[in-house]
Amino acid sequence: MTLRDYQNALVTGASSGIGAATARLLAKHGLTVHAAARRQDRLAALAGPEQGLGAIVPHQVDLRDRAAIYAVLGALDIDILVNCAGIGSRFDPFHELDPDNIDATLETNVAGTVHAVRAVSPGMVARGRGHIVNIGSIFGLHAIGSAVYGASKAAVHMLSQDLRQDLKGTGIRVTEVSPGRTDTEIFATMTDDQAAQAAMADGFEIITAADVAAAVVWALDQPWRVNVSLIELTATEQIPGGVGIYPVGGRE
Ligand SMILES: NC(=O)c1ccc[n+]([C@@H]2O[C@H](COP(=O)([O-])OP(=O)(O)OC[C@H]3O[C@@H](n4cnc5c(N)ncnc54)[C@H](OP(=O)(O)O)[C@@H]3O)[C@@H](O)[C@H]2O)c1
Repeated sequence: MTLRDYQNALVTGASSGIGAATARLLAKHGLTVHAAARRQDRLAALAGPEQGLGAIVPHQVDLRDRAAIYAVLGALDIDILVNCAGIGSRFDPFHELDPDNIDATLETNVAGTVHAVRAVSPGMVARGRGHIVNIGSIFGLHAIGSAVYGASKAAVHMLSQDLRQDLKGTGIRVTEVSPGRTDTEIFATMTDDQAAQAAMADGFEIITAADVAAAVVWALDQPWRVNVSLIELTATEQIPGGVGIYPVGGRE
């Protein structure tokens, strides 16, 4: 089992959602998991003994702070990097978007991801082995209607594809996991309207953070000869751009 060959993982965006579920699952498999995000209290809860987990080491890092990425994350010896940190763009029409929100989306989802890979990859190259998993989105693979978020996730898609080229011969595997709508706190980054947030998960059976974490671990656990390049993962009743054909509870 390949996962047993890895010892140390770094999960960014580990304070909630897909990152938290992935950090927990990797710890359950016995890995030492370095968990990075801004909310220290959430990371501490993840690492708490009541969780009954293996070793989880919290690191308070803002992925928009380039110096912190290199100083804190670059100092770790990491076999697996899972880039989960990300935010959604605001729901506002494109021509009314706050320029600060545009910067926040691009800096977190693109620059933060690229610099995390750049900070951690030298150690992987030196050891001749590693695995980078980037959490993309169906918004990066299909035109769905959120131009800045879509652009940020399309960048994650090409980053993943081109890393396969740039790192060939190093023993580093690269996987992109691109989920559809997933039941996490990300909707709160898109709108303050709680009814609109709830509507994101209403009317169909939405996938969970644990579903995405399981896909990540499946890709990590493939034999060394196998590189899973891309997983697109949606709810059964969601197609890119449309949801809710059948209600929760499934078909008659
Ligand atoms: N939920 C979906 O429908 C969906 C679908 C496709 C793809 N995705 C992608 O999945 C990834 C995880 O999102 P999620 O759905 O699990 O949402 P989430 O629950 O809101 O988690 C986002 C994580 O990113 C971290 N983060 C945000 N900005 C950060 C920054 N500047 N520095 C460090 N960490 C930062 C947050 O931690 P702090 O706030 O504590 O820093 C949090 O841990 C994202 O890349 C997202 O684009 C989500």
